[in-house]
Amino acid sequence: MTETIVCRRLAGRTAVITGAGSGIGLATAHRLASEGANVVCADIDERAGKAAAEAVGGLFVQVDVTDAEQVEALFATAYDTYGSVDVAFNNAGISPPEDDSILTTGLDAWKRVQDVNLTSVYLCCKAALPYMRRQGRGSIINTASFVAIMGAATSQISYTASKGGVLAMSRELGVQFAREGIRVNALCPGPVDTPLLRELFAKDPERAARRLVHIPLGRFARPEEIAAAVAFLASDDSSFVNATDFLVDGGIAGAYVTPL
Ligand SMILES: NC(=O)c1ccc[n+]([C@@H]2O[C@H](COP(=O)([O-])OP(=O)(O)OC[C@H]3O[C@@H](n4cnc5c(N)ncnc54)[C@H](O)[C@@H]3O)[C@@H](O)[C@H]2O)c1
Repeated sequence: MTETIVCRRLAGRTAVITGAGSGIGLATAHRLASEGANVVCADIDERAGKAAAEAVGGLFVQVDVTDAEQVEALFATAYDTYGSVDVAFNNAGISPPEDDSILTTGLDAWKRVQDVNLTSVYLCCKAALPYMRRQGRGSIINTASFVAIMGAATSQISYTASKGGVLAMSRELGVQFAREGIRVNALCPGPVDTPLLRELFAKDPERAARRLVHIPLGRFARPEEIAAAVAFLASDDSSFVNATDFLVDGGIAGAYVTPL
């Protein structure tokens, strides 16, 4: 008989997750709820966000993460409903096809990706920090990407630059607020099997093949594997992990030549 170990590291904690309607955010909503957290599922997509909140017994808040007022209202709602803001998983992001090589990417596409991927993280951290400072406790996890650390010839120039910004901003916040009991880490996932990536690769199988060859584990991550890392960073098990670029990439960043 196999024994199931139930981990309740987040009992009584409140976690706000942006982009909770799909992919990494959705898997994380399930994981954090299973560890006992009150989960606030934020998404611009009402149908997906509501479904996520219902599935995990959490609260749905519709939000466009590029809008400062809506982001402030999101964290206020979390606090008013559950009495604390302990974890902010600032994860919503986009990767549209118009964002490609610098040679073809226009200013509109550049700005849109910067707004959704980088400005949103600034807004969410700015809104979450006052609650965490009052509590003297908090864990902020900002979703960057392994492309914040490594270059790719299959470029998405604004996406990569936005994730580099998330990484640098997270490091600085982690340093600034450490002595107030607040940890800030950038999560750097490798390629994950989610709708975002599937859509991109369905249009261009050659791009998919070019990427797979660089992954020592020989496959993309499952969203649940990224969610497990978020749960660790959210919990006190990671109490000495701060201001890091927390790679969950199947070994990509360590690889020179991969097994066939
Ligand atoms: N999928 C990957 O391979 C991968 C790898 C590294 C990093 N990431 C990053 O992980 C994060 C999540 O990616 P995913 O693959 O789960 O994506 P996804 O497309 O499956 O989910 C993203 C969610 O964000 C929501 N969203 C988009 N714009 C929003 C806005 N303006 N306001 C509020 N919500 C909004 C969408 O509605 C969606 O539910 C992103 O930041 C992405 O850049 C993904």
